[in-house]
Amino acid sequence: MSSTGIPPGAVTRQVPTRPHDTWAEWYDIVYEACFGDTFAWLTEATLNSIRTTATSGARIIDFGAGTGRLAIPLAREGFRVHAVEASAPMLAQLVSKSSRELTPDAITTEHRDIQSYAGLGEFDVALCVFTVLIYITTASELRAALRAISDTLRPGGRLLIDLPDPSVFASFTANTPDVFRIVRITPDPPHAQTEPGTGFTFDEETLIKAPHLRRYHDRFPVRYWPPEVVRDYASACGLKVVTDLSAAFARAASTYWWLEKTSEALPENQRHDLPDKSVRSAEWRHAPFQKLPKIGPSRATGWAIVDLNHGPQSYQDCALTT
Ligand SMILES: C[S@@+](CC[C@H](N)C(=O)[O-])C[C@H]1O[C@@H](n2cnc3c(N)ncnc32)[C@H](O)[C@@H]1O
Repeated sequence: MSSTGIPPGAVTRQVPTRPHDTWAEWYDIVYEACFGDTFAWLTEATLNSIRTTATSGARIIDFGAGTGRLAIPLAREGFRVHAVEASAPMLAQLVSKSSRELTPDAITTEHRDIQSYAGLGEFDVALCVFTVLIYITTASELRAALRAISDTLRPGGRLLIDLPDPSVFASFTANTPDVFRIVRITPDPPHAQTEPGTGFTFDEETLIKAPHLRRYHDRFPVRYWPPEVVRDYASACGLKVVTDLSAAFARAASTYWWLEKTSEALPENQRHDLPDKSVRSAEWRHAPFQKLPKIGPSRATGWAIVDLNHGPQSYQDCALTT
């Protein structure tokens, strides 16, 4: 027996984890610390848009519900909410938070990938927001997800999605009294850019300073999806863009769309013939980096955002020190 307690020759396997699994317990603290007022503003703006679209008591499905940022307030307001989430620890946070203030049946939950969700027409509104779609990194998975989402909606039902701009795919650090976070977002090498859009590796190391010292590391692939690609895939699933809220959500540096479920989808044999409107890494590199501060903190939060990819010069350009 070795000093690790593992018998010689034993095969050890790492249990695969989903993004956020290892730090779900800290997710709310980290996001609130890092994105401060902007995070609170985004939550309220998103809820307001949902309130004006969903009728009282509407059935809402929240895909990639996370820790319940939207699901919990919507259930509190009387909407019937079903939360679907790929990370079991994130879903556990949602359930735990919800149980502190709501009855057990106020939100139903399902630990599942969007792509494998099987439902037919039972929801009035679907949500898939706050970067959920960037976690889906192949065109076939994205099509499967949009198909599953479309299938859950009744005809005339609405879907809210967001698609982060290229400027969001930039490295940064955040240093607050509670959290020190280094996020590196690196484009995949050119030979690996075989899908539409641009693939990146998201790598973060974070130190939670309070209430007690903890450190975690998370690393997973993400993809910038050009909005027109998503619009074409959605349209093939019978989802049509009806409202473009991107200007109202400019502070989030993302496209925000409401789509409507029409009864028509492209015939099955045409669904895979959509043009590939790829945006390759050379193109995103020229994205205006100045947009980055839009997702940064307000001056009141007192932290700096630093571009790690572009070196010290960019630090001067982009730091949002207070
Ligand atoms: C940044 S969080 C956003 C959470 C929530 N939508 C919100 O608005 O706060 C993204 C969430 O999407 C989940 N997610 C990513 N890919 C998913 C998939 N294919 N199916 C279900 N959930 C997914 C992640 O586990 C994570 O909890």
